Amino acid sequence: MTSPTLALRNDLVVAPSTSRMRGIANELKERGESVINFAAGELDFDTLDSLKKAAIEAIRGKCNTYTPALGEKKIRQQLAAHVSEQLGVAYAWNEVGMTAGAKQALYNAAMVLINPGDEVIIPIPYWVTFPTQIELAGGKPVLVDTRPEGYQLTAERVAAAITPQTRAILINTPNNPTGAVYDSEALRRIGELAIRHDLWIIFDECYSRLIRNGGEHHSIVTLMPELKERTVIVNSFSKSMALTGWRLGYVSAPEQVIKAMENLQGHTTSNPNVVAQVAVSRALDDSADFIATANAILDARLQVIHEALAGIEHLRVAPAMGAFYVFADIQWFIGRCYGDKPVRSTDELVELILAEAKVAVVSGAGFGDPSGIRISYAVSDADVATGMQRLREFFARFN
Ligand SMILES: Cc1ncc(COP(=O)(O)O)c(C=O)c1O
Repeated sequence: MTSPTLALRNDLVVAPSTSRMRGIANELKERGESVINFAAGELDFDTLDSLKKAAIEAIRGKCNTYTPALGEKKIRQQLAAHVSEQLGVAYAWNEVGMTAGAKQALYNAAMVLINPGDEVIIPIPYWVTFPTQIELAGGKPVLVDTRPEGYQLTAERVAAAITPQTRAILINTPNNPTGAVYDSEALRRIGELAIRHDLWIIFDECYSRLIRNGGEHHSIVTLMPELKERTVIVNSFSKSMALTGWRLGYVSAPEQVIKAMENLQGHTTSNPNVVAQVAVSRALDDSADFIATANAILDARLQVIHEALAGIEHLRVAPAMGAFYVFADIQWFIGRCYGDKPVRSTDELVELILAEAKVAVVSGAGFGDPSGIRISYAVSDADVATGMQRLREFFARFN
């Protein structure tokens, strides 16, 4: 007996390469192998105590019912004040909403903004999920290279990709997988292009508060408040508050976009977890110290990583400035031999690194850029040191 066929839509969807790699690394660890997991996509710290207490209190206080699809009005009011302060642009409660992580906010954006056949400009390398979500909405990803400019997105390259079918530009800064933080002048010029061609901007700033060495993240609406009416800002508590599993993201956008998302979300998942909503609202003001500590730890790790990678011959790394990733150009190694074993692709290289060095990294292929590998330093200081030593030894065996 065979089952009926699945929907054609499934041809557009494969499991994210990041989750696959993390799964393999965790399986090996469970089998007792000493694997360093540089595939991590979340902080290795525990979250804030005040947040845990607030969640326990919320549960004890019978916080167990549905809320409006984009969250409790009172929490949205508080969130709007938080967003207005962070962005320096006023947002009202009905211009913000909560979602099950930034991922759902981005999916909502694709579904409410993109018509079949619309083109959406996405910089390469991209976070694995962007093109899939755009395609699920019937849109066509148009990929724009950032590699020639050291992973910086330029207005010239965006301008060259705009056609009459372009509907939106999707920008992610600080960037996953490269750790790049986009230049403010370039963002301004891209904003001007959006106005001139009447485009939406989907601006994913999930890592906005994870910035290296006192640098500065630029929100496009902060730089140009006149972009507010055409910009969907996506953010999340996942990354900066070590809360990935609670699934709480948020979106700030013009009222009509938020209303459309509310309708859509009302038919898909309804509200994001109510306990997470309430707890985060109570602990929102405590997050600054936690994030400052996280940034100091990540700064120190990044320094170790940059120094170690600089010592590996033929590996090239653009300086990372945000999030907790570096992206290393490994092109030299493809087509060469590890010992006597030929390595034909980045995916093969990544599998070999795991098998031989017991280090999990993510192939750039899933990020649209097979010339690189992503290394996450959201792992303990000890793992950073051991993992770097193993990578040095691994790459030294190439000829
Ligand atoms: C650039 C980017 N956007 C969105 C997300 C989704 O984050 P979450 O859904 O956990 O808030 C991630 C997670 O890795 C990401 O890297």
